Amino acid sequence: MTESQNSDAFVAFERVQKSYDGETLVVKDLNLSMPKGEFLTMLGPSGSGKTTCLMMLAGFETATHGKILLDGVSINNIPPHKRGIGMVFQNYALFPHMTVAENLSFPLEVRKQGKSEREEKVRRALDMVQMGDFGNRRPAQLSGGQQQRVALARALVFEPELVLMDEPLGALDKQLREHMQFEITNLAHELGITTVYVTHDQTEALTMSDRVAVFDDGRIQQIAAPDVLYESPENSFVAQFIGENNTLEGTIKEIKGDLAVVELDDGELIDAKPVNVSKPGERTTISIRPERVEVDVKKLGDKAHTLKAEVAEFIYMGDVFRTRLKVAGKDDFIIKTRNSADQQRLKPGEQVEIGWLPEDCRALDAV
Ligand SMILES: Nc1ncnc2c1ncn2[C@@H]1O[C@H](COP(=O)(O)OP(=O)(O)OP(=O)(O)O)[C@@H](O)[C@H]1O
Ligand SMILES: [Mg+2]
Repeated sequence: MTESQNSDAFVAFERVQKSYDGETLVVKDLNLSMPKGEFLTMLGPSGSGKTTCLMMLAGFETATHGKILLDGVSINNIPPHKRGIGMVFQNYALFPHMTVAENLSFPLEVRKQGKSEREEKVRRALDMVQMGDFGNRRPAQLSGGQQQRVALARALVFEPELVLMDEPLGALDKQLREHMQFEITNLAHELGITTVYVTHDQTEALTMSDRVAVFDDGRIQQIAAPDVLYESPENSFVAQFIGENNTLEGTIKEIKGDLAVVELDDGELIDAKPVNVSKPGERTTISIRPERVEVDVKKLGDKAHTLKAEVAEFIYMGDVFRTRLKVAGKDDFIIKTRNSADQQRLKPGEQVEIGWLPEDCRALDAV
């Protein structure tokens, strides 16, 4: 048995690499350590290695290099029936010859639970996914979203210590999806289940997770709590991938402590927070969230940086107004304002002054 270097970790990836063909690495030097009870989401573009990581953690694929530990023990040394892992696959993988209720009862039978206990647990799990009336149907007689909910119930019914879910709500409509998000996080926290969750939906990732790992190209680009990830992205990929983001290109003029002076490509000088830039002359991409930009610049006080802008488009979205501006030679600068009684609706062609605080403006790597 292999002891983990990090004794607190319930799940640990240590320098894990994976190649399917012996040439290209689809997972590159992955390090990840999760305490018991954590809800962690892997978020990233298609093909970035998320499912591969889940499959290795489940023991269905082996790592080409490195170690994966579950409660301090290498996953390769734990026989499948002792892994205690609940899983929802991207393609559901229900047993086609069994009814819905039998599908759910199966993991309980394997664990030698009695009939009345099984029936009670199956009933509760089906109610949780709003499938209480479907116990006698077979998977082929269900819609995609219904099958997905049964797969979810089956992964949770035996109260596993670790649950791996790969896009478990992808086939559901918005309302059901939001309901299930709430049910899953509640149950996971109530039972202390450690969860690794995969999704493409960033709102889902931000609202459900204790931490989010942003994947790109087989690497974790940043792993952090949702608010940290959104407010303090460490590189341009994360800033662009999570939430809406405005970018301006320029060159570093000077770095003094926590202030960088950036010359934008149209010649304008602005102050920014240096994040992953190191020296004058370096190209940078500035990142500013749309909701951190003020049209009423007086609200910001005298630390604000202001720029002239022209309104290109006004988009009414109900609760918020989204306005597209021409700024510093670009025409895709978005600002978001709340629809309040005193909020003015800007008109295309109008000249405005916009502003932000230097700490909301991050100097990141050039893209
Ligand atoms: N069994 C396999 N054999 C060979 N290559 C594979 C296999 N499974 C996945 N890959 C490749 O590994 C890379 C990572 O795939 P993976 O399924 O982990 O991505 P993902 O992040 O889950 O993507 P998606 O969001 O589309 O589900 C991809 O380039 C994919 O083509
Ligand atoms: Mg996948």
